[in-house]
Amino acid sequence: MPDATDLNRSGEAGGPGDPKARPPTVQVRAPKGTRDAYPEDVLRRRYITQSWRDTAIRHGFEEIEGPTFEHADLYAVKSGEGILGELFQAYSGKDPGEVASVQASGRAPYALRPEFTPSLARMYVAKYGKKADTPVTRWFTAGPYFRAERPQRGRLREFLQWNCDVIGTPEGEAFELTYDTEIFDVTVSMLSAAGLDPESVRLKCNSRRALGDHMLRLGIGPDRHEGALGLIDASSKLSREQFAARARELALPDAFIAQYGSSEGNLVIRLRDTAESVIGRYPSLAGERGKLDEALERSQSRVGVPGTIENRVHVFGLDEWYEFDSRVVRGLAYYTGTVFELIADGERAVAGGGRYDKLIELFGGAPTPACGFGMGDVVLGLLLEDKGLMPEGPALMEAVSRAPASVRPEAFVVTPDESRDDDVIRAVARLRRGVESERSEEEGAKAWDWGARYEPATGGVRPFHARRSDKATRNVGKLFKDALAQHARTFVVLEPDGSATIQDLDRKRKFEKLDVGEGMVRLPAMVASVLDGREPG
Ligand code: HAM
Repeated sequence: MPDATDLNRSGEAGGPGDPKARPPTVQVRAPKGTRDAYPEDVLRRRYITQSWRDTAIRHGFEEIEGPTFEHADLYAVKSGEGILGELFQAYSGKDPGEVASVQASGRAPYALRPEFTPSLARMYVAKYGKKADTPVTRWFTAGPYFRAERPQRGRLREFLQWNCDVIGTPEGEAFELTYDTEIFDVTVSMLSAAGLDPESVRLKCNSRRALGDHMLRLGIGPDRHEGALGLIDASSKLSREQFAARARELALPDAFIAQYGSSEGNLVIRLRDTAESVIGRYPSLAGERGKLDEALERSQSRVGVPGTIENRVHVFGLDEWYEFDSRVVRGLAYYTGTVFELIADGERAVAGGGRYDKLIELFGGAPTPACGFGMGDVVLGLLLEDKGLMPEGPALMEAVSRAPASVRPEAFVVTPDESRDDDVIRAVARLRRGVESERSEEEGAKAWDWGARYEPATGGVRPFHARRSDKATRNVGKLFKDALAQHARTFVVLEPDGSATIQDLDRKRKFEKLDVGEGMVRLPAMVASVLDGREPG
């Protein structure tokens, strides 16, 4: 049934032969929480979806698509009560048995998809079955999703969502954190390519595993963790009293209520924080200056310690964006490790994601660690409009007419030298980001004006599709085969002596021991030259 406010009948009754009678008209408005898109709206949407697609491709993700409706049971496996309570139910209405069953139970066999992760797990298992040791798989998809939420700023009932997931990552904490940070990097790259910066959006992270340990320390057994985390997730919408009452219903201790029941208990630590900046946010900590200095020093010194999240964030160049936030838990039940959200002040999350190491197994696959995120177009659209980052008129037309990212990898970067592994990550990030031209640096080109932003005449280099190998081998011959198997255009070897060798795989030319400069600043321009069939100058 259409919503009563969406349907309005009018007209005059008249006899069959009455020439003055107006035929009855029916005015039907778009359903609540949906959007009509006229030509300019479609271009604005395309500006967002094109940027999603280009970013994912440049980061080595391959596009997949799933159905827009699924068996409703798919979401009962592990998505959690929040999603189940927001399902738009669906059924064909063609089969009398089905109709009778829906009428009797109030539950339809299908649901319009509210999220993609369960479909992704289902599709992955349908393709690989119980096969273990599958290659690391990067999949992305973007399309419409549906949630029967109360429409409000940033939340609608139909929205577009972009998902990027890395599946089948090698086990071990060091690998895990590298892939988690790779996922942070994809979301942040998209936002910064659109002109957003860490002043306006922050990457708020936490770990479900650390939260679990903390719950145990507070005397909360594993059987009560789901309830406790659900309550932390809902805490921003509850008053102190409501929070305490719900916590007592769940038999959670006073220490839990003291820590999570008020905004004071919510600890946010940025990598660049000083004791003063933390005290600015939490005046009550002024008396604990010594302890604070110690804690910040510990966290900042981890930047240099391989195997910590701070170190990974630093290598990926995300220091300015990252912050630890003790209240980030995420509403979905399948997360097992890192959880994160991208949030701008006063807005709902623009993206959220995390690690879900058990979901593929729950759907019948082999144990397969995975992590990913979803980003919606509604909050993103509001942010871009509010900050003057959405092009208009001819600029918008130009922006959506730009050539899409190359699906074929343009550079494949490897090293035989373990001590240069982080340089591979830095080189790949640099190639994907591109180099802003001098003109852009001086005049501040608009984010969408690629002509000025990456103008080669003033030192600019456009962003490339760059990949690294997920194989553990250090054998350059085997890594070369990996580059060929992925159909790369160029093969870049970071040599142990700090130079680089670039091979043009189509024209079969090799440029050895190139001086790429301090911090590999010249590498993007060299790759650009080789791709154009020129000598890397
Ligand atoms: P989620 O946090 O439920 O995560 O949604 C991700 C993003 O989708 C949100 O940050 C928001 O931008 C957008 N979104 C969600 N609901 C709405 C709504 N009603 N209206 C407008 N935008 C909305 C997930 O969906 C996870 N499956 C993401 C994920 C992928 N985790 C791992 N892989």
